[in-house]
Amino acid sequence: GKVAVMFGGNSAEREVSLASGKAVLDALQTVGVDAYPFDPKYDDLDQLLEQSFDRVFIVLHGRGGEDGSLQGALTLMGIPFTGSGPQGSAFAMDKVRSKFLFKGAELPTAPFAIARKGQDLDLAKTLSELNNRVMVKPANEGSSIGMSQARTVEELEKALEIAFQHDSEALIEQWVTGKEVTVSILNGVAMPLIEMRTPNEFYDYEAKYKSSTTEYLCPAPLSDELTESIQKIAVQAFDLVGASGWGRVDFLIDEQDQPYLLEINTVPGMTQSSLVPKSAAQAGMSFQQLVVTILKGSLS
Ligand code: DAL
Ligand code: MG
Repeated sequence: GKVAVMFGGNSAEREVSLASGKAVLDALQTVGVDAYPFDPKYDDLDQLLEQSFDRVFIVLHGRGGEDGSLQGALTLMGIPFTGSGPQGSAFAMDKVRSKFLFKGAELPTAPFAIARKGQDLDLAKTLSELNNRVMVKPANEGSSIGMSQARTVEELEKALEIAFQHDSEALIEQWVTGKEVTVSILNGVAMPLIEMRTPNEFYDYEAKYKSSTTEYLCPAPLSDELTESIQKIAVQAFDLVGASGWGRVDFLIDEQDQPYLLEINTVPGMTQSSLVPKSAAQAGMSFQQLVVTILKGSLS
């Protein structure tokens, strides 16, 4: 059948999506799939029906593509698509609501507070309750956009101002000193872990997409026991939010080897050098095999 590869879009992660989408489109065409580019920024969704597309491969990151709204529209239109459905996508995109799910299911995640635009919050109290060092994140954003850390009330004020440029809700999360690792999920199975090492204070936008000093260790050099425990938590969290098909679950590990869930990405980066393809390669799967496996998932 005819496949629309959706990439680009209108979110703050448009540039990342363009890179991911081109790589996916190229791989699908290379293996003979009848695939075409589709950019919701310019192309109307009606075109999917008018041009008789059979399926959609979603490679849109962030709001309007990864957050369940597109998934809801495609569901109503009766067009199968890759990855998570409307509900799983929406929960995974929302860092505030996914935190409550993690907590409710007793999965390990760092202590946090919520800030809402226009609502009073005692910043000094919040900061001291969170060990006087926090990471502030817009609730619905990706690629570390709008994130900053804070150790003082002034910094927290500034960090919230930045986060509120992206969203009306922000997550204030206790800082965890240690390692950052990620688990790729494909059809319900956790793949090899990757540890990301950066000289920056955290794995930020620059470290993710621009830096040549970021190191990727795959498999992550952790004990088998810790690796398996993190993979298990990753699959539990993925199922908990209602995500399906494929995705990536991000973690921090503190200096006592305690893992903390950060968040779930239901449309993670998909350039040839992105994390999920790196993990798949370690598991013996080429980029083309990975892309075809994800596409097949849209049939179920
Ligand atoms: N949000 C970016 C694309 C990622 O998770 O890889
Ligand atoms: Mg993310």
